Amino acid sequence: MKKVVYVGMSADLVHPGHLNIIKRAAELGEVIVGLLTDSAIASYKRVPFMTFEQRLQVVENIKGVAKVVPQTTLDYVPNLTKIKPDFVVHGDDWREGVQKKTRQSVIDCLALWGGELIEVPYTKGISSTKLHQAMKEIGTTPQIRLKSLKRLLAVKPLLRFLDIHNALSGLIIENTVVETPEGIKSFDGMWGSSLTDSTAKGKPDIEAVDVSSRMNTLNEVLEVTTKPIIYDGDTGGKIEHFSFTVRTLERLGVSAVIIEDKTGLKKNSLFGTEVEQVQDSIENFSQKIIAGKKAQATDDFMIIARIESLILGKGIEDAIQRAKAFIEAGADGIMIHSRKNEPDEIFEFCKMYNKLAERRILVAVPSSYNSVYESELVEHGVNIVIYANQLLRSAYPAMCKTAALILKNERSKEADSQMMPIKQILELIPGGK
Ligand code: SPV
Ligand code: MG
Repeated sequence: MKKVVYVGMSADLVHPGHLNIIKRAAELGEVIVGLLTDSAIASYKRVPFMTFEQRLQVVENIKGVAKVVPQTTLDYVPNLTKIKPDFVVHGDDWREGVQKKTRQSVIDCLALWGGELIEVPYTKGISSTKLHQAMKEIGTTPQIRLKSLKRLLAVKPLLRFLDIHNALSGLIIENTVVETPEGIKSFDGMWGSSLTDSTAKGKPDIEAVDVSSRMNTLNEVLEVTTKPIIYDGDTGGKIEHFSFTVRTLERLGVSAVIIEDKTGLKKNSLFGTEVEQVQDSIENFSQKIIAGKKAQATDDFMIIARIESLILGKGIEDAIQRAKAFIEAGADGIMIHSRKNEPDEIFEFCKMYNKLAERRILVAVPSSYNSVYESELVEHGVNIVIYANQLLRSAYPAMCKTAALILKNERSKEADSQMMPIKQILELIPGGK
């Protein structure tokens, strides 16, 4: 009887390295490819460029592949236990890094029925990571970027967004990566914060920075990044004006706008009831959502309704009533905000919100209740966490400190230890030399 050979792969960017592995596997027996699902891939590296169905079509047609089955986790064990293959074939590049643990569990599992792991030497000069890097350098299109938020939401339990206020902050979000035992972690996208954008322009967060000026910041960021953007649309302005904002954002490739149910002169939510803030009526705000949805040119753009009931001390019942009404008006999601130091009222809201028959995605902004862990937010059904202002809040004190040090010492040497070296800033943005 022909031996059974199992090969797990993502096959997003198929290259000669993959074909080499399949060729070796076919020499050993009948090849079953365990094709990682989108969420399995997203759990440890990134959302694949091609959907599962597209990748399936490619792999099914590779010479030497007898059958393709979905592998729904990075962990091979569930599929291996079912199939009990004689061999697993894999490139030898997983001995180190995030897949090291996965490799060991494959070896242990195969040992249960005398199966064997065969490792094929890594094909020099090519890897999907390198291809991915090259594609990033080429950039993206507005259409692809716009759609990417919905794709991410479909495959990841929680998306992380961080504030932008200029192109450099966008680059930090684009490029910051940490390796952890559970896999590679990075930010999923950027939050076009009204607070940090206004602050960076030296203006208060009261819608005094007009939409055109806000779009300039977005354009700067869009030029040098590829990740999705959620735009803070403040109150959305007048209903008639909001339609134009939606069209502009969509044309730029922004994925979503969040508008808050306040009216009149907007003040930042974190002031709470310390300042005069007026909540919009359910009827009026619903009309704004309806107008925005009507203005959309694609199905991919999202309008998320932000509820200020907890900020204004109106209570959870009021917030839930609004969530229901705004979803009925067509909102693609709800952002619930709070300025309490503990997440209790947010979690209360989540429990009730999750029971809604028409539940849409939920966004939380833990600026004041910042001891909350992402895992707790996931447990309560939050789909997107926005770190709304941390980049600017960390940059500003560092700059103030340097300015004061120069004044005090009448030279800059004393500030050296807290600055990046000149050589490093020269080379920070590639292409300057
Ligand atoms: C922003 O970042 O501008 C926000 C969030 O709207 S908050 O500042 O908490 O209101
Ligand atoms: Mg804001």
